Amino acid sequence: MSPSLPTAQTPPPPSPSQARSGGPAPVSVLGTGSYLPERVMTNAELEQIVETNDEWITSRTGIRERRIAGSDENTSDLGAKAARIALEQAGISPAEVDLILVATASPDMFFPATACLIQSALGARKAACMDISAACSGFLYAIEMARHMIAGGAIRYALVVGAEKLSAMVDWTDRNTCVLFGDGAGAAVLGLRPAGRTGRGVMNTLMGSDGDYADILGVPGGASRCPVTAANMDQRLNTIKMVGKETFKQAVSAMTNASVEVLARTGLSINDISCIIPHQANIRIIDAIADRLKVGKARFFLNLEKYGNTGAAAVAIALDEAHRQGRFQPGDRLLLVVFGSGLTWASAVIEW
Ligand code: ACO
Repeated sequence: MSPSLPTAQTPPPPSPSQARSGGPAPVSVLGTGSYLPERVMTNAELEQIVETNDEWITSRTGIRERRIAGSDENTSDLGAKAARIALEQAGISPAEVDLILVATASPDMFFPATACLIQSALGARKAACMDISAACSGFLYAIEMARHMIAGGAIRYALVVGAEKLSAMVDWTDRNTCVLFGDGAGAAVLGLRPAGRTGRGVMNTLMGSDGDYADILGVPGGASRCPVTAANMDQRLNTIKMVGKETFKQAVSAMTNASVEVLARTGLSINDISCIIPHQANIRIIDAIADRLKVGKARFFLNLEKYGNTGAAAVAIALDEAHRQGRFQPGDRLLLVVFGSGLTWASAVIEW
């Protein structure tokens, strides 16, 4: 991982009543963290598994390699590692966390929630825990939930995690999908803006869904509709199925519209944004969005070349890496925008 930033001074947290007094309280990201499994799977390695080649994968997706979790590494293990790093940077102890939200499409189990497993690993004993099922959009959905609970005074600190072990759900015989996905986790700690910071924090967010497109991307089997039976497993219904071209089209329009709309709600233009952190699925999707927003690619933070599409973890990992690499400074405004199965999409403007 990249070098750690200095640990923030633990701020004296404003009381919930202070939060309620003078309009909407600024809710800030107090710390970020990420964790990627050590094992790197290159495009060359995929050439040994399915009929594909590095040139096709790189030119169609921008992905050169991805990380694959070990058989003894679960989604909760990846998430707990990212969470510890985020808490350390925030200067918040696990015992102070009131809420743990985990965005994942590849939970350790259907239940209990992966958030509960992360709670146990961290020893965050007073936290309420749940998972958010909004596929790749889940991390921003969770940020939105946490922000309102903090601003409303219901809780003080929230730990929001995006964690995936998508390699466990990939059909390794399907070249259309197996080249796209990877494993990893990112996390953020949210709380009221601490003393000494002036940025307005999470300024605005937007969430949307369209269940009419539920069948273009998902894992159809293994749950209650298509339970685990030999016949269903033979058809690999417990693996990711995707209509690639339609997903691509929907991703471009949903993320473009979500970007435009959240900026309008915030009263900002794209020129007010220093760094755009998009869902890291495919470089051509990002090219198309950059084109429609009329903004240079240099303004986007990208790491999909190294990690592929890590689902709900992707934007969380990218936020942490951009932060640690100094891609934005206090006062800078970020635009985060995501898209996923459901369909779901979300965007957020954060003033750091
Ligand atoms: N290697 C070589 N050839 C391949 C591969 C591969 N890995 N995969 C597909 N092909 C072939 C196809 O079989 C097809 O061959 P044919 O013309 O002989 O039938 C040819 O390449 C073209 O296939 P297309 O599907 O038309 O390729 P396309 O340009 O649409 O790219 C891709 C496919 C990369 C999947 C693209 O559609 C895409 O990126 N879609 C969005 C995927 C995505 O981002 N999903 C997740 C977003 S949401 C979320 O993260 C949950």
